[in-house]
Amino acid sequence: MSAIDILLIGKNAAEAKQKNPKVINATLGTFYDEDKKMIIPFVKDKFMQIQIDNIFPYGTTNGGDTFKQNILNWVFDQTKEEIETHFKTDVIATPGGSGAISIAFNSYTNPLDSVLISDIKWRYDFFTNAAKIKIEDFVLFENTKFNLTSFHEKLQKLTEQQQKVLVVINDPCHNPTGYQLSQNEWEEIINIMNQYHQNEITLLLDIAYFDYDPEGLEKTREKFLQLKKVLPHITPLLAFSASKSFSMYGLRLGALIGLFQTEKQAEYFKKHAYEDALGKWSTAPSVGIELFNEISKEKETYKKIITKITNQLTKRGNLFIQEASKQNLKHYPFKGGFFVLIPVDDPLKCYEKLVKEEALHVVPMKEGLRIALCSVTKDEIKQIVHKIKKTL
Ligand SMILES: Cc1ncc(COP(=O)(O)O)c(C=O)c1O
Repeated sequence: MSAIDILLIGKNAAEAKQKNPKVINATLGTFYDEDKKMIIPFVKDKFMQIQIDNIFPYGTTNGGDTFKQNILNWVFDQTKEEIETHFKTDVIATPGGSGAISIAFNSYTNPLDSVLISDIKWRYDFFTNAAKIKIEDFVLFENTKFNLTSFHEKLQKLTEQQQKVLVVINDPCHNPTGYQLSQNEWEEIINIMNQYHQNEITLLLDIAYFDYDPEGLEKTREKFLQLKKVLPHITPLLAFSASKSFSMYGLRLGALIGLFQTEKQAEYFKKHAYEDALGKWSTAPSVGIELFNEISKEKETYKKIITKITNQLTKRGNLFIQEASKQNLKHYPFKGGFFVLIPVDDPLKCYEKLVKEEALHVVPMKEGLRIALCSVTKDEIKQIVHKIKKTL
């Protein structure tokens, strides 16, 4: 199956829903509450308070010092001090988490290199195609666990082929499966990468959904402290998505965060990440930066709001797993987040059948059908399980 355009599939589903209210749209990675409301009232209030004079002028390429401090405070929170004692940090504002991924792929690889990503993954192929690089897949699962053997084999292969190796890990709440690495798996991944000190390794952590970690805001941030174990030949980069964390999808804000153990790494980021942004979009939209800076003034209030959203999401996830087990519908290992993935033999055919016969829109991927738990109600979840089971 060639790369799929999830946004287009989502647009078709939204159009079908307008024509027929019975349509269930479980396509897009956008959070809707049980009343089908997407915009978070707190975020809307803050948006209304933005000073227009602050958003019409050009911003700066990195997003400015206030943005940098606010991002570091939001992403690392209680672990910030410890992280900053161990690493020098830098931040660049980007249009969505997508912009952060795009910079990492362009700036931290050589032309025609391959990057290491799991076989089951989000649509990173659009970014690698744009950066004129390739993907080396490792097998994500061995039974219900992260496949460390495949990860190690493929990393070894790449370290022999090329000097620079970029590794992508999308955790927690992996898209599309909802898998979550255990503490032990994280330690092993770092141990494996630490062995290849003759190479320059970039660890791109795609944390688009980390604020929805079912283990909570504090626990998910504690996991960042594992990064203190990486040796200096590894540069951890974090791709943050404000789209997901604040339901501000269309405003296009994200950030690429660099953690450095050497001056050379810090200088490299300053030059290459900045120049890549300058060559692509110059500055991220000021409106997103300003809104994020406003929200940051009441960070503690927003933490309570997002915790409630995560609880709703967790309830949906639990319900799905419960219904699926009742109806004997298989799914890939799932722990939480926006999506769950159902293995099917012919995803495209199954998708078409579900649309035509069941008015159910999901995303067909190479390995199965992706269900966006984030965008459906608890009632719809029961129907989704039933409809898929019936169609298989
Ligand atoms: C795994 C993953 N990473 C990154 C992104 C980028 O999000 P955005 O560019 O909208 O912030 C997404 C969006 O769906 C995603 O699913």
